[in-house]
Amino acid sequence: MASENIKNKNNEDYEIDTLTNDRLIKDHSYDGIRELDNDLPPWWKWLFYITIVFAVVYLIRVFVFKSDDLIQEQEYANEMENVATAKTAKSAGAAEFHVQLLTDDASLAAGQEIWTKICAACHLADGGGLVGPNMTDDYWIHGNTVEDLYNVVTNGVIEKGMLPYKNQLSDQKRLEAVSYILVKLQGTTPANPKAPQGKKY
Ligand code: HEC
Repeated sequence: MASENIKNKNNEDYEIDTLTNDRLIKDHSYDGIRELDNDLPPWWKWLFYITIVFAVVYLIRVFVFKSDDLIQEQEYANEMENVATAKTAKSAGAAEFHVQLLTDDASLAAGQEIWTKICAACHLADGGGLVGPNMTDDYWIHGNTVEDLYNVVTNGVIEKGMLPYKNQLSDQKRLEAVSYILVKLQGTTPANPKAPQGKKY
């Protein structure tokens, strides 16, 4: 291969391929085959430098500050633990539903809405009673505690015509309706009160 020796501005020797003007690596000749002395492309060089910087940062983070999990198994175990605690917290929240009289305005307003929409058909909007018993007097067939009323609304008294609402209304909704009865309807005077049924409390 034709080549000539020239000097660049740093006074270094270069061999130049006379045919293509490409730079050749000196003293690299294998059976007359020469290797071109090309610079690496800039994008390649920068990528290389970035990997070095990344490696240094990574080593310091993981081994010096231990801010990342060293092994994937540990990372996996931690994630599983997080899910487990989230689950128990959730089921604990669900189990915390207490049948306890609600007296806040929002709950009572929600209870009134359910009452007029669903229950008034049989108990009347003012609670005076129609098919179902009067809710304003002191007489109860199934007891007068929140739990008593809640149980009737939940499970119904089908043979007497009181429907079960456990599938139709959520626990909270049933409690709101029952609270509305006890807080707002009890002791009021309805337009056409139905005769007392059950026991006086
Ligand atoms: C289809 C008619 C009907 C509807 C609708 C109805 N009830 Fe009743 N309810 C009755 C009847 C009838 C009884 C009486 C059951 C018995 O004699 O044991 C009753 C009884 C009750 C009792 C027990 C009263 C007592 O004296 O112990 C409560 C509390 C009650 N209903 C609440 C509700 C609520 C809250 C709703 C709406 C979510 C509702 N009811 C909707 C017919 C109805």
